[in-house]
Amino acid sequence: MSAQDQEDVYFSTNPPPRHLEAHAAQARAFIDAHAAAGRRVVLVTSGGTTVPLEKQTVRFIDNFSAGTRGATSAEYFLEAGYAVIFLHREFSLTPYARHFSHATTGGFLDFLEVGQGGGVSARPDVSTKMVEILSRYHTARTENLLLSIPFVTIGDYLHELRAISRLMASLGPRGLLYLAAAVSDFFVPPERMAEHKIQSTDLGKRAQEAAAAAAGQDLNSADSSKQDSEEEEFDNFDSSPRVPRSKRLIIDLDPVPKLLLNLVDGWAPRGMVSSFKLETDPTILVTKARYSLERYQHHLVIGNLLATRKWEVVFVSPGREDNWLRVKRRGREWSEEDVKRLRQGEVPKEEPGEEIERFIIPAVKELHDQHIKANK
Ligand code: PMT
Repeated sequence: MSAQDQEDVYFSTNPPPRHLEAHAAQARAFIDAHAAAGRRVVLVTSGGTTVPLEKQTVRFIDNFSAGTRGATSAEYFLEAGYAVIFLHREFSLTPYARHFSHATTGGFLDFLEVGQGGGVSARPDVSTKMVEILSRYHTARTENLLLSIPFVTIGDYLHELRAISRLMASLGPRGLLYLAAAVSDFFVPPERMAEHKIQSTDLGKRAQEAAAAAAGQDLNSADSSKQDSEEEEFDNFDSSPRVPRSKRLIIDLDPVPKLLLNLVDGWAPRGMVSSFKLETDPTILVTKARYSLERYQHHLVIGNLLATRKWEVVFVSPGREDNWLRVKRRGREWSEEDVKRLRQGEVPKEEPGEEIERFIIPAVKELHDQHIKANK
């Protein structure tokens, strides 16, 4: 099937999110305003996508991403003069609020106290930081530089991504797509998705079967044929289960079409497209990043390992040497041995001394400068 056919099938069979039109209208107004002002616009995608198992969703598959990369990057893009469309997983980290909303030491209420006059004020030890971040946030909001659009499911994400990318096309090379969301590779297609909560007991299943029989439906008629994944195959099928099949929940997932190709070729063909490549095995990171670049023919892949993603990333782009960016260590320099260990996925004991996005965004901007010059 061609990439266009795959796109058509996916979008015609997977319903759009409820607010797609409203979000597209907001994005259009935002892009038009900044295009008129000659400002660059970046679409930052952030956070994980869910894979619902039921139409009336009680259960879903999710991934680890908290949206740190996306939310932090959005702040640095604003600092670098970009207007930012922040397409993010609902309730994941957001720019500026992230400094207070998801602290491991407590919730945002722990940063506040009731003053003598009865009003609320920031705790004295965080007040300077809060004022500084609040003022950056207010500037972004009052100058209309930050548009936040939420998604939840993989389907929502792909519909929103297509709609906004198409609008970004009007910016030509001045549009930048920075795809940092952790996008699910597998999903349950609507025709195989249960309508109601999947039952775990025989009683529940029998009640559902009786209700279906009364309505003249066959609950077992779903097509469970599998498509081959384009990626490497991994089989965890249990051929001698200790628990009978009838009591187990076996989830049969289809591959999500790789729509990056459609984005690069059709949705935003003149913009700069940079994607992230996540791996856990250090020995394949660069090869997979380069493979992704060749496959999708876009402009930049930023490779990162799950364990060390806050410490180091690698820029892989056409015609250039791989460029490793690394944060400083607290109170000591990197030795050659340290770097080797980091590259093998070994995480230093202390927290990083700074945010790696401080280095990622200027380096992306430099490539975007070149992209704009080359495509004038
Ligand atoms: O949120 P944090 O905790 O800070 O973590 C940040 C991060 C690790 C999630 C981020 O830095 C990152 O690596 N994001 C990309 C994760 C990912 O989806 O990697 P991937 O190798 O599965 O996909 C690579 C690219 O293919 C992505 O740009 C994605 O948009 C694209 N893709 C993926 C699936 C799919 N069906 N179609 C696609 O086009």
